[in-house]
Amino acid sequence: MHVGTVNIPIAYDHPDASHNTCSTARAWAKRPREPEAGEKPELIARIKRMLKEQDAVLVAHYYVHPDLQDLAEATGGIVSDSLDMANFGNRHPAKTIVVAGVRFMGETAKILNPEKRVLMPDLEAECSLDLGCPADDFSAFCDAHPDHTVVVYANTSAAVKARADWMVTSSIALPIVEHLKVRGEKILWAPDRHLGGYIQDRTGAEMLLWQGSCIVHDEYKAQELLELKAQYPDAQVLVHPESPRAVVKLADSVGSTSQLIKAAQSSPAKHFIVATDNGILHKMRTLCPDKIFLEAPTAGKGANCKSCSHCPWMAMNGLVNLAEVLASGKNEIHIDPHIIPRAVQPIRRMLDFAKQIKLPSTGIGNA
Ligand code: 13P
Ligand code: SF4
Repeated sequence: MHVGTVNIPIAYDHPDASHNTCSTARAWAKRPREPEAGEKPELIARIKRMLKEQDAVLVAHYYVHPDLQDLAEATGGIVSDSLDMANFGNRHPAKTIVVAGVRFMGETAKILNPEKRVLMPDLEAECSLDLGCPADDFSAFCDAHPDHTVVVYANTSAAVKARADWMVTSSIALPIVEHLKVRGEKILWAPDRHLGGYIQDRTGAEMLLWQGSCIVHDEYKAQELLELKAQYPDAQVLVHPESPRAVVKLADSVGSTSQLIKAAQSSPAKHFIVATDNGILHKMRTLCPDKIFLEAPTAGKGANCKSCSHCPWMAMNGLVNLAEVLASGKNEIHIDPHIIPRAVQPIRRMLDFAKQIKLPSTGIGNA
């Protein structure tokens, strides 16, 4: 039996793919301005008022600006990983869901709640995994392997989800693939090669991997991490599984954003080296004020804007553009209504599975 990878050219890594390089640069250039300190209280009060008036709830990811994370919690919304963002938006009675994160998160909310209005501070907040997995190419990949169960990561477009049997997030990918393996199913996995490889290593499942990657996690470096560990011998290393295998191998804990936060809370260690987007440090430091969190090293001397441990698309969310969107009603997510009935199936399958196995809710700090 063949277990392995296929080489799919990814727009992101292609030398001619100026499209994606531009998209990263555009994301940095489009970052909303930081409000002045004096302007912040009024801005926050205005956003709170508009959320209430519009029966809207704010759902934020751990990687977005701390102001948005705090505001989501202060207004009855949530800051969480992508699984709980989907779950929360799905259960919440508000008429409008405002998603502070990246586009696939807004799309997932819309697919699950087509009757609701879903807004985002910036609709151009993409994800390199999504960009690197165009629906037509992915469809051809699926057509070439009709005997495989198609499992896609949440970080994909609605059209890619519409070709899938299952959607997973990093919180639940392991138990779902275990379950499919027990059923004797062969898996076609997309788009993150590192997360796919990690799941393959852990489960021994037969998997064909799309060769996508996250531009943030791809940059963590094992050698530099070893050097930092030598400086902090007591430090626990927390790694998101979108990171390269050599980095994952050095981890004390591997998991989704919420699982890494829980690991930091439950460990008695004083120091932690964190290999995931540095937006997560806000929640870690708030929950564990006596612990010290260090960013895992990226490309070091060769660093460029791709290797600063922060997602350029997550950085497109801020108080200023959130207020603008609530005032204008622009930046609403629309999805082709023909795609929704098909795209919702793999998402619902995942949510039902999470319920069945009683996967603990990951809304840390929201209890
Ligand atoms: P989590 O589901 O672990 O929050 O990850 C989402 C993501 O985009 C990580 O880069
Ligand atoms: Fe996508 Fe990586 Fe940004 Fe997460 S951190 S949204 S995987 S580009």
